[in-house]
Amino acid sequence: MKGIILAGGAGSRLYPLTLVASKQLQPVYDKPMVYYPLTTLIEGGVREFCLISTPQDLPRFRQLLGDGSQWGLSIEYREQARPEGIAQAFLIAESFIGRDPVTLILGDNIFYGGDGFQKAFAEFNGGATIFGYHVNDPERYGVVEFTPDGRALSIEEKPKQPKTNYAVPGLYLFDNEVVAIAKALKPSARGELEITAVNVEYMQRGKLRVSRLSRGFAWLDAGTSSSLHEASAYVQTIEKRQGIKIGCPEEAAFRAGFLSLEQLAALTARIPNCEYREYLNELVAEARRLPQTA
Ligand code: DAU
Repeated sequence: MKGIILAGGAGSRLYPLTLVASKQLQPVYDKPMVYYPLTTLIEGGVREFCLISTPQDLPRFRQLLGDGSQWGLSIEYREQARPEGIAQAFLIAESFIGRDPVTLILGDNIFYGGDGFQKAFAEFNGGATIFGYHVNDPERYGVVEFTPDGRALSIEEKPKQPKTNYAVPGLYLFDNEVVAIAKALKPSARGELEITAVNVEYMQRGKLRVSRLSRGFAWLDAGTSSSLHEASAYVQTIEKRQGIKIGCPEEAAFRAGFLSLEQLAALTARIPNCEYREYLNELVAEARRLPQTA
């Protein structure tokens, strides 16, 4: 499955932080924000990526992530001239997607916990899979109503009176039909090609699965100064308590088998002396001691 990371948009809610670096490049505790969605997709087994951002910000993403080969990945880059909707990503990335299924993740969505996503990636066999996550403020999101066996009954974008508390997070899995569906979309009242309209189309075709994310799962929003700060605090709390890192692409690529232990060790040796390097060194040492946990 191919992977798209959508990391454009104006970032105006984070002004003045976003004057020189876009939202998805801001630090979330000890890493740039985009590391988290990238890691989520690597954990899902995705190896080929296309990152979409604004013409101004794209060079910095390139500088940060390169061509991905250091992590056993390939990363291509495409421009979105104006923020004309999440579903526009499928048009921009059409040649990258080719004939494959594709997953899209929003560059400011941070997920942690459970194996809900890995299962969804492993079980994906056509149509579309989206997720439902219980939130306090569903009116800010796409909202889904569904049956206990995971069939969607309705999906609405930012409804004034939400039918449920289940928001649709910014991670979507689609078969190759998504390109044709996106091509047929008309801009919404807010002038965007809506991802919710894509999901509704799959629902009407009877091909939409909704997987409910469990209670122990964290979906963090980093779109305002205060939620950005809270996301950092959350990551710091978990990392300090557990001695593990969230959103570490090197580790995820190693665990996914995209990097060998020797490649991970060589990569770690090139990182300057810092806590991040110490963490990876420890991972290498542990994998050498206990090869079965690698
Ligand atoms: O976060 C999940 C929600 O994302 C879903 O529940 C909604 O159904 C979906 O529409 C979207 O909600 P928002 O409208 O609030 O998303 P926003 O406009 O904030 O864009 C989400 C991210 O995607 C943001 O970091 C900027 C980026 N983006 C957005 C658009 C519209 C782009 O890169 N290009 C775009 O054209």
